Amino acid sequence: MHDLNINGHSLSVDAPDDMPLLWVIRDILGMTGTKFGCGIAQCGACTVHIDGEATRSCITAISDVAGTSITTIEAIGETPAGKAIQAAWLNLEVAQCGYCQSGQIMSASALLAGNPKPTDADIDAAMSGNICRCGTYLRIREAIKQAAASAGAQ
Ligand code: FES
Ligand code: FES
Repeated sequence: MHDLNINGHSLSVDAPDDMPLLWVIRDILGMTGTKFGCGIAQCGACTVHIDGEATRSCITAISDVAGTSITTIEAIGETPAGKAIQAAWLNLEVAQCGYCQSGQIMSASALLAGNPKPTDADIDAAMSGNICRCGTYLRIREAIKQAAASAGAQ
């Protein structure tokens, strides 16, 4: 058994030590907001936060997250940065097909939480591992800036 803390809830999961956290989140816990894309840390669709750090859950074994605090897209709106990011995403209608977007939002939220006024270079560095087949990159950058501005205004 593995003791986990996900989105503020403590729970135990019966799974092999090497099972990827993404499998646990989606297949065992039934939380399907976190997406499977490549499975090899190349696309960012599976991004979650582990102790606030944007992390690829497809290559993170469940045995490596004991004692950490995990946040998924289902609860990111409960954080100040996540709330600002989601509001800006809606305002600018960032999503196209949507498949990559939970990962994009998780990376953007981690960026904003750690850097309230990111430069273009900061944004590019933080978001470079999140691939969007629909090419929403320009709206993503704009939404991060809008979220930073709105968060700074509060
Ligand atoms: S599914 Fe994890 S990075 Fe692509
Ligand atoms: S919105 Fe379609 S892959 Fe990004």
